[in-house]
Amino acid sequence: MTVPTYPVETDPPVPTGAQAAPPPVSTSALPAARAQLLHGGSVEQYRRAIADGVDRVARRVATVDRPATGVAPAELAPLVNTVDLDRPLGDAGAALDELEDVYLRDAVWFHHPRYLAHLNCPVVIPALLGEAVLSAVNSSLDTWDQSAGATLIERRLIDWTAARLGLGPDADGVFTSGGSQSNLQALLLAREEACAAATTPAARMELLPRLRVLTSAAGHFSVQKSAKLLGLAPDAVIAVPTDAQRRIRPAAVRDEITRCRQAGLVVMAVVGTAGTTDFGSIDPLAELAGICAAAGVWLHVDAAYGCGLLVSPTRRHLLDGIERADSVTVDYHKSFFQPVSSSALLVRDRRALRHATYHADYLNPARMVQQQIPNQVDKSLQTTRRFDALKLWLTLRVMGPDALGALFDEVVDRAAEAWQLVSEDPRFEVVTRSQLSTVVFRYLPTGPGRELADAANLYAREALAASGLAVVAGTRVDGRHFLKFTLLNPATTGDDVGHVLELIAGHAGRYVRDNTAADLTCPVG
Ligand SMILES: Cc1ncc(COP(=O)(O)O)c(C=O)c1O
Repeated sequence: MTVPTYPVETDPPVPTGAQAAPPPVSTSALPAARAQLLHGGSVEQYRRAIADGVDRVARRVATVDRPATGVAPAELAPLVNTVDLDRPLGDAGAALDELEDVYLRDAVWFHHPRYLAHLNCPVVIPALLGEAVLSAVNSSLDTWDQSAGATLIERRLIDWTAARLGLGPDADGVFTSGGSQSNLQALLLAREEACAAATTPAARMELLPRLRVLTSAAGHFSVQKSAKLLGLAPDAVIAVPTDAQRRIRPAAVRDEITRCRQAGLVVMAVVGTAGTTDFGSIDPLAELAGICAAAGVWLHVDAAYGCGLLVSPTRRHLLDGIERADSVTVDYHKSFFQPVSSSALLVRDRRALRHATYHADYLNPARMVQQQIPNQVDKSLQTTRRFDALKLWLTLRVMGPDALGALFDEVVDRAAEAWQLVSEDPRFEVVTRSQLSTVVFRYLPTGPGRELADAANLYAREALAASGLAVVAGTRVDGRHFLKFTLLNPATTGDDVGHVLELIAGHAGRYVRDNTAADLTCPVG
């Protein structure tokens, strides 16, 4: 690798005397540094650099024959760690060459049909176009004077999403970095609403440790994290039991609200999940809404995963009841085929967003509200914020919602086929049929090998990951190790699923055979 040289310029004359400022470290590098800024004089370089980057990714996407290489951290870390960040390569081509080694070669590719692990989707091209545009223009969605039309576009998409949810005319919301942030903000708003009656600091301090949040035992861990960030008690989140389909039991929610009240506790929110991470189960939203309305409790629906149903031509009804939620999390970067990040928090009553509003003289003085200059910072936990909404905008403008929904429907159909395949295979045990696109299952050895089931499934997952031939996830169900497919790629076929099941059975079966044989040869006692 060569270190580039730049034309040496004569340093400008430096004033002499006691007040003279120290000379810049190296003015000779300045012209080259300026050329790296995007401006009218550097657009050709910009075009070339981006085209080169896009070409390399396109080549990888076209040729990868497996979703991962299975590289171990210990193999990759030395490559990354020996890059001398104080010695620039000076040229995008050289940096991209290096990037091939430290990142692209071993990247995990979500577009590959045998990537079946987490809630990562392949991404649609209009959204990638949006990503390229938004990062180059670099609008910041805090204030109008940093965004102009971007603020209006985000607002249109919030209104569009709120209308799809059916939240009514007073709804509003804001884009966030992801489902975790959306859940955090929702619970912040719920906490503030619950604390509204505690008008003195002392009353608030007395109330805070008594606040409780009810959510499904299968709910997302960001609810717990949020509770901690919000200063709630360590036991503030109560995991409510689920039914056989891993949906929250509404009767248990009702009982828990009563129990809390009797114990002097205040339920500040019920979090329903529309698409649990592991099981794709959708809580009975209408029943939860009825319970919350009767009890005067904030209902937040975490639809980070299930929000794809909002555009589904055939399954929108699975979200019935969501229109009665006080707040909803949607993750476009899960089931709208958008690149990370793209998420939003929606609220039924826009006034609730005031709990995130602070005014700064330099940025969003209160007079701007009086002047009706739109800004999004008043609604957001962030200040400087990406124009992620542009990706969804271009996606809708190029493809439209039905096409997106058809893609999501396809993965839900494919998951149903996968469930069928696994449940008919005597080598496997499957937990529950997902309403969305996961399949939680495990290899179940027969005979004396059965007690090795946990270890065999763990082994199979690791062996598969090391081969890179497929990537699947793992989770625990009732204390036992299970494997999980999350299907978000319409390109995944039944054959892919069948092939991956054979690979898993091969690894797990080998583990059981090896370890049972080893046991037999081990001296006893
Ligand atoms: C149901 C649910 N809620 C929230 C989240 C968190 O979303 P994010 O990863 O975008 O922060 C996830 C992530 O998988 C999820 O499945």
